[in-house]
Order: sequence, then structure tokens, then C-alpha cells
Amino acid sequence: MARRKIIIDTDPGQDDAVAILLALASPAEIEVLGITAVAGNVPLALTQKNARIVCELAGRRDIAVFAGCDAPLKRRLVTAEHVHGKTGLDGPVLPDPTMPLADTHGVDFIVETLRTEAPGTVTLCPLGPLTNIATALERAPDIGPRIAEIVLMGGAYFEVGNITPAAEFNIYVDPEAAEIVFRSGVKLTVMPLDVTHKALTTRPRVEAFRNLGTDPGRVVAEWTDFFERFDEAKYGQDGAPLHDPCVIAYLLRPDLFSGRNINVEIETGSDLTRGMSVADWWRVTDRAPNATFMGDVDADGFFALLTERVARL
Ligand code: RIB
Ligand code: CA
Repeated sequence: MARRKIIIDTDPGQDDAVAILLALASPAEIEVLGITAVAGNVPLALTQKNARIVCELAGRRDIAVFAGCDAPLKRRLVTAEHVHGKTGLDGPVLPDPTMPLADTHGVDFIVETLRTEAPGTVTLCPLGPLTNIATALERAPDIGPRIAEIVLMGGAYFEVGNITPAAEFNIYVDPEAAEIVFRSGVKLTVMPLDVTHKALTTRPRVEAFRNLGTDPGRVVAEWTDFFERFDEAKYGQDGAPLHDPCVIAYLLRPDLFSGRNINVEIETGSDLTRGMSVADWWRVTDRAPNATFMGDVDADGFFALLTERVARL
């Protein structure tokens, strides 16, 4: 497979952190052009710091990390400390980063990179609210046709919502931004809760990370030990969904996933269903397909890939 150039847009978050590690552990397939932080799980001051912590854990101080938007386009920021802890990376104790934060705003980096790189060669990988991506598309409409693909974690259909009965967190936090992205015409591949809820951090899978006997393996296990407590209590199952690494795993092994090319629209008008991703899975409307919406994953294959790659760090 040709080496993919990607920008990771992220709100670390333990699952974001594992996704970043997976990308950095796969240099033969993935070139990370930069990481742009966005406000989401925790405020921007923490997500930009956490992104740098993860790069240093992977031994990649060379990765450029940018701070992007600190609030949704039109809404008050909603965060998720109840899931990820006060720091956003609760679990293991990790040193503060010493690598610098880039001076450029994350949105400017996205625009400039897409204008500089050859058209159709850069994939955007949003793992949090879509504020940075939507702001870039609005500020520089010329970049839309230059984006090879957007592969994002967000939305839900059969699995319904996780932050409200109707909405998944990333879409809920900034539904106007999601609407802009889903209407952009850019090739979209979506990893909704329908998929990520099948990628559960069961005990054997977590112990496989811990048994690697490496710092990254231990940290991934301890992140999981922390953040899975909320979902296990809520859903009453063994393990928690490992959401964001599904995005990077798709780049590496698309065969692990299956879904449909359908129409997906975002609810922005109703307070009750704000951020709902209305997926026309059964094609009952004449609305044009705008996204490949994933519905299933080979969970054993996913965790085997993840463990094998984390072992390389
Ligand atoms: O709903 C799950 C998503 O919200 C994940 O990206 C998680 O990191 C949070 O951002
Ligand atoms: Ca995230």
C-alpha cells in the first residue's frame, strides 16, 4: 500500500492517545504530517499538552503539534472529564511534555498543508469534535477538493448516542461543525459507535498490552484500566469501546471493517436530538450518499494489529 500522509485532529483522551501511538508505530504505511489539537474531552490547554505527552511516549519529539480551536463554532464547550479524568489522560502518571507546541494555529496548519501538498494526497483523521476541520473548510473552501479523504470517529445509528440518547459525543459537542463536514462533498469514512462498541477492551486484550513489558504497553494498559470503568458501569459489560484507534486501524487494514455508502445528515435544530447522526442505513430516502458509514469490525483482528504495533514502540 502507498504511504498515506495524514493530519490527526484530536482531543486526547486516552483512546485518542492510543490512536496516535498506532499511527506513530506504523511509519511504513503512515506519514503523520502533524497533529492538531481541538477542545473536546478536556479543554484545549490540556488536549494540546496531552498530544505532546503521547508523542514523547512514542519517542517522536519531531512531530509538529498545533493548538486549534478552543470552543465549538456556536455552542458552549461540553467536556468529558467524567470519562477521561481531569487531565484527559488519567491512569498512569506521565511527565509533562518538554517538546514545544508549534506557533501556528492548528487551522492554519491544516489549510497551509493542504495547499502545499499535492492534491488528493493528504487524509484528515479527526478523532474529536469537528471544529478545526469545519473552520478550515469555511475559511479556505479551495482545500475541500484537495483532501484525499476524511476518516473520522463520530456518530451513531443502531448504537444510539453516548452523551445523550440521540447523539455521540464528538458530533454532539459541535453539531454545526459536523454539518459542514458531512455536507462538504469530501470523501468521508465514518467510524460510529456502531463499530467502536464492538472493539471492547476485554481483560485478555488489556493484559496483552501490559504483557508487552514495554513502557508504551504498560501505559496503554493503565489508560484502559482507567477509562473503561465508566463504560463498564454504564453498559455492564467486560471492557470499554476503544473508539479512536478504529480510524487509524482502517488506514492500515481496511479489510477489518465493513459498512455502507449512505446518506448521513446531522441534526442541529433540535435541543432534544442535537448532534444526532441521521444515517439512512436502509436507503429509505432519495438523499444522496455522502459517507461510508461503518457497521462492523473484526475485533480480534483489530486488537491483534494494535498490540503488534504498540509492541514496536
Ligand atoms: O464518543 C467517543 C468519542 O468522544 C471519542 O473520540 C472519545 O475520545 C471522545 O472524543
Ligand atoms: Ca477523541
